[in-house]
Amino acid sequence: MRTLNVALGDRAYPIHIGRGLLDNASLILPHLKKPRVAIVTNEVVGPLYLARLRTALSNAGVSSTAVSLPDGEAHKDWQTLNLIFDALLGDRCERSTTLVALGGGVVGDMAGFAASAYQRGMPFIQVPTTLLSQVDSSVGGKTAINHPLGKNMIGAFYQPQLVLADTATLDTLPDQELKAGLAEVIKYGLIRDYAFFVWLEANIEKLLARDHDALVFAIERSCANKAEVVARDETEQGERALLNLGHTFGHAIEAGLGYGEWLHGEAVAAGAMMAAELSCRLGWISAAEVERIERIHRRAGLPVKGPALPVEQYLALMAGDKKVEDGRLRLILLRGIGRAVIHADAARADIGAAIAARCA
Ligand code: NAD
Ligand code: GLY
Repeated sequence: MRTLNVALGDRAYPIHIGRGLLDNASLILPHLKKPRVAIVTNEVVGPLYLARLRTALSNAGVSSTAVSLPDGEAHKDWQTLNLIFDALLGDRCERSTTLVALGGGVVGDMAGFAASAYQRGMPFIQVPTTLLSQVDSSVGGKTAINHPLGKNMIGAFYQPQLVLADTATLDTLPDQELKAGLAEVIKYGLIRDYAFFVWLEANIEKLLARDHDALVFAIERSCANKAEVVARDETEQGERALLNLGHTFGHAIEAGLGYGEWLHGEAVAAGAMMAAELSCRLGWISAAEVERIERIHRRAGLPVKGPALPVEQYLALMAGDKKVEDGRLRLILLRGIGRAVIHADAARADIGAAIAARCA
């Protein structure tokens, strides 16, 4: 097992990464206030892993209840969030009960938000079961639901007590979901870790083949990058925004097509290509670097162009992004591979041209 720390003072927490951790309740016990948990999962992950987790907890003397949500990004909304509150209240969960999110980023984001609000805050633990959630969404305390007018628009910063990433759960992950997770892995190389990008160029096929050592290395390196950024800028006053490379374009794709049409990671990949395209048009990176970025996404089985939505629709959706400040869109662009910057002065025409060049 590998362990990293998210250094947030008295709210610091460990990230454990390894095979079979789901059966090891002794990793969870030290983080519980009381031996009682409420598990939030969904209709796909529950049948695969819920019984195992509950058995491990029960053998360790921890009682558990569970609520299963409908699956998918289209259900990351108020109505589904309420199912969690219904269950917590119905089961008379207390503030000292720990909420456990067992699933991908959708379950983790919704369960985390529910934990932040239930009785004004209950402790929670992330047990991520997708590559994307193990490398990104389970770490850092961003929790949210979607609104029809914008992705992740209703939410809170709320840190977990623990992240338990059992890499064996990735065995059942569909290939398309694994590839979507790779978009966020590639992102770390692009924004701040050139050596990791080079490693990915040499090892992307191993990751696609689910080579265990390669996966553990990529998850650990991704989490290390994320933990470092989050520790320095927990609530995104500055540097943390870099983690959103490709996301402003990507969120427009997700909202524009309707949540769930494209996977989040797929939208991020196309969005990263739009950001690379714009960076190139500004003269910040070369065409050869854009080509290199495109190649790694292609090899990972990810889209390198967005869907054919009207450019005006992209721009309108992007204007509602959380990174808009005083009406100015702050984009994450590249000054090189491994060197992302926040840029608030891109001309609308240039942004539109980059989108048009990277639309199907
Ligand atoms: P997801 O949660 O929808 O999971 C993908 C699919 O895989 C779902 O159908 C799920 O039921 C299924 N699944 C999960 N684990 C499985 C397993 N082990 N075996 C088989 N099937 C499994 O999607 P995701 O890609 O994990 O997360 C995407 C979400 O994460 C988006 O809503 C995005 O906004 C959010 N996100 C949040 C942050 C953050 O910092 N909070 C960062 C990145 C992404
Ligand atoms: N995924 C962006 C962040 O956590 O800040």
